[in-house]
Amino acid sequence: MKPPEIIETARLILRPPTLNDAQEIFNKYAQDPEVTRYMVWRPHENIEMTKEFLERCIKCWKDGSAFPWVMTLKSDNTLLGMIEMRLVGYKTDLGYGIARQYWGKGYTTEAVKALVQWAMDQESIYRVWAACDLENLGSAKVLEKAGLQREEIQYTQEPHPVHLRL
Ligand SMILES: CC(C)(COP(=O)(O)OP(=O)(O)OC[C@H]1O[C@@H](n2cnc3c(N)ncnc32)[C@H](O)[C@@H]1OP(=O)(O)O)[C@@H](O)C(=O)NCCC(=O)NCCS
Repeated sequence: MKPPEIIETARLILRPPTLNDAQEIFNKYAQDPEVTRYMVWRPHENIEMTKEFLERCIKCWKDGSAFPWVMTLKSDNTLLGMIEMRLVGYKTDLGYGIARQYWGKGYTTEAVKALVQWAMDQESIYRVWAACDLENLGSAKVLEKAGLQREEIQYTQEPHPVHLRL
């Protein structure tokens, strides 16, 4: 099963990334340590790293291992960040990140809500989950606003010692 490649919300269009997005993603957030602070990847040191990352994203859509979308503004195509869904059996989990200049405007909540809605509309999916660092209050709030419920705290190894799974 594959989710739709294009997902439209009130203000956003989610679409699969292309290599042409590399420069904008690199400039806007892939090199920003504030954005990657709670992510599993480190800031990109050069655009080649961003291109490699995007090549993996494109491959993921082909092999179905993950479904990453670029979040763009419907009004003018501005690239905000990315959101990803991974489907394993009846479960799907989410990950996301957007450039700092667009934080706090409700964009990620809007995108997460749309993906949760799509997942819950599928008969074969009956669990949507995500994990975030306990200190990542913005991410936890996004998930709660999209209807996920706090489930457990996992104590794991560095660099993310405490995880909050919703
Ligand atoms: C976490 C992140 C995706 C949130 O995206 P966003 O588009 O700014 O989120 P929203 O605007 O939809 O915010 C949802 C709520 O969280 C709140 N919020 C956002 N950032 C916050 C922060 N740093 N601290 C506390 N609350 C925060 C918003 O105020 C909003 O609440 P409100 O509607 O009551 O005002 C964004 O900060 C980001 O990209 N961070 C870096 C990458 C990352 O950590 N990804 C998640 C890894 S698990």
